[in-house]
Amino acid sequence: MSKATFDPTQYNRSGNTPFETVLERHVQRRTLIRSGSAMAALSIMSSLGLSACDSNSKKNNYGGNGTPLTPTPPVTEKPVLGFQSIAGSRTDAIVVPENYKASILAPWGTPLNDQAAAWKADGTNTAQDQANSVGMHHDGTSFYPLNGSNEDGLLCINHEYVDQDALHPNGATIDTETNRRTILEEIRKEIYAHGVTVVRVRKVDGVWEVVANDPHNRRITGATEMDINGPMAGHDLLKTKFSPDGTSARGTFNNCGSGSSPWGTFLTCEENWPGYFANTAERTEDQIRIGLGTTANQYGWNHLAGDESEENDEFGRFDVTPTAESALMDYRNEANGHGYIVEIDPYSPDSRPVKRTTMGRFRHEACEVGKLTAGKPVVFYSGHDARGEYVYKFVSAANWDPADADRTDRLAVGDKYLNEGTLYVARFNEDGTGVWLPLTTDSMDTDGNPLSDSFGSLAEIILNTAGAADELGATPMDRPEWGAVDPVTGSVYMTMTNNTARTEANAANPRIDNKFGHIIRWDESNDHKTFTWDIFLFGSPADGGEAINLSGLTDLNQFASPDGLIFDKRGILWVQTDNGADEVTEETNDQMLAVIPSALVDANGDAETISGSNQTELRRFLVGPNDCEITGLAYTTNNHTFFVNVQHPGNWPFSDDAQEETPAGMTVRPRSSTVVVEKVQGGPIGE
Ligand code: FEO
Ligand code: CA
Ligand code: CA
Repeated sequence: MSKATFDPTQYNRSGNTPFETVLERHVQRRTLIRSGSAMAALSIMSSLGLSACDSNSKKNNYGGNGTPLTPTPPVTEKPVLGFQSIAGSRTDAIVVPENYKASILAPWGTPLNDQAAAWKADGTNTAQDQANSVGMHHDGTSFYPLNGSNEDGLLCINHEYVDQDALHPNGATIDTETNRRTILEEIRKEIYAHGVTVVRVRKVDGVWEVVANDPHNRRITGATEMDINGPMAGHDLLKTKFSPDGTSARGTFNNCGSGSSPWGTFLTCEENWPGYFANTAERTEDQIRIGLGTTANQYGWNHLAGDESEENDEFGRFDVTPTAESALMDYRNEANGHGYIVEIDPYSPDSRPVKRTTMGRFRHEACEVGKLTAGKPVVFYSGHDARGEYVYKFVSAANWDPADADRTDRLAVGDKYLNEGTLYVARFNEDGTGVWLPLTTDSMDTDGNPLSDSFGSLAEIILNTAGAADELGATPMDRPEWGAVDPVTGSVYMTMTNNTARTEANAANPRIDNKFGHIIRWDESNDHKTFTWDIFLFGSPADGGEAINLSGLTDLNQFASPDGLIFDKRGILWVQTDNGADEVTEETNDQMLAVIPSALVDANGDAETISGSNQTELRRFLVGPNDCEITGLAYTTNNHTFFVNVQHPGNWPFSDDAQEETPAGMTVRPRSSTVVVEKVQGGPIGE
């Protein structure tokens, strides 16, 4: 998260029926709706023998984030979890099951090329070093093989935010009289520590390493120029002094969850971006709805606006207060270029990232591709991570052509599928059904009037996506985070991390104060306009009691605040946590658990949820070091290597061995890192 950048305010004032109320009514009935996903699973399993799987084909190889690109393996190869759940841990070390190992691969500050000096433990690396090194606070990630290899490929790594105390020798320098930032170099270093890293990694003599100076290596930072595509491209609302034609934006911020497209591009998501901008005058409706601030960039980047060394208003642009006669002379529209899903082609280092505005503008968490069918639209799911916000999906206008997976003009393929289509928002009905509400000008609001009465164009809907969703009667949720699609059943899973700010009294609902979060799942109807849903798993402390511990968790799998959520292509679901609930943090640090949902079926073959009778199938696989969150998982095609991100550890890593505990009494400058997890003897992870 972002406990550092998480904004606890509920900006949704729509009064739409909140999900907790829907849930309270639904919990009583959830046995009624089980058949949808189970039927899908059975029909798929019956066809498994027909599936071809060319493991050398590039389209089969895109790692990370559960995109079901590979035909499902034959049922005889269906994995079972082959490790025992590990105990909770509270140390400055990573813990993995017996016969597994974890090692440091790509920590913050690792040079990507010779333009960067080696990382220095005293924090004195320059802004230029940072612009050529791995960024800070790793999050969503994907692996893109080179030549189909399981031991050579490109990692894309999101960097969510920066910790100024770790980034600089003594934290941010602030004038004590003016309370303003004073050192330009520090601010540039912070901007360059944001964004995305693309880095080649390779296994040499049995050890994974970063390939310095590889031509694919690059940093996309908070200053990188990128294209605006889709309905916002060229719109008056995107025009700034820097981009008078409204077709480009500078940088990407707070890149949290991520996704991977079926054509081999990385989809990075701009989450808590509003905190980077401020409007000190009267805010616009969309700025109020999204929670854009009134004072300053959260790090004070705008404090050096007008400095004689400032280039192209690099700091002034974060102040979006209208100051000039026209939008072409100031940065009132600068924030309108943020809040999107950004597409990056990792294989083409000279390509410009593209902001795909069709997919909405909000605090995007991840971006997960639905189950692919040739000749049908491509679907992407994305959560809006804030209290009481919504679940969205984008459905492409173009139908999926599997040949597009092999094209090398990947951003042109992105243009084909991501520039035209329909964005929907979810309404969860109390009976276990749901409806996708289209965010289009002719869509009817809850009063029976078209959205065009309030929004003059699709671009205006996109600009204030959440505001438009309010009018359609979407269901406010408990902070939607990552989505993941089961490659076996096609069911969609999404984490609702928590929401302790619930005010609605509903004593009959044991989860009315959703401190521990849950994972919802749904199955789409054939026309993709409706769905059926249930709650797959509730977070809870083991001693939470019957009213809270609804999934029957024990010491061996208690967790809270599910966040990262990834299916691998075998159908193993990996659940990562970003927990702040004392009841669980007293027992264990943040963690990654595994379960195979498609294997949890009752005697009738109907899909089950997790309960006291099957909870042993949810197994704790990895525990992180103190103070971290575990977020982001990518994997090689053969599943022999997992790349797991550790974000904002407190006093780690001590050495290249991620499992080596920092000695008591010793303090290290903490470094978020991508960690390699493997079996000691090799072989597929988890089995
Ligand atoms: Fe950045 Fe929603 O966690
Ligand atoms: Ca989070
Ligand atoms: Ca997250």
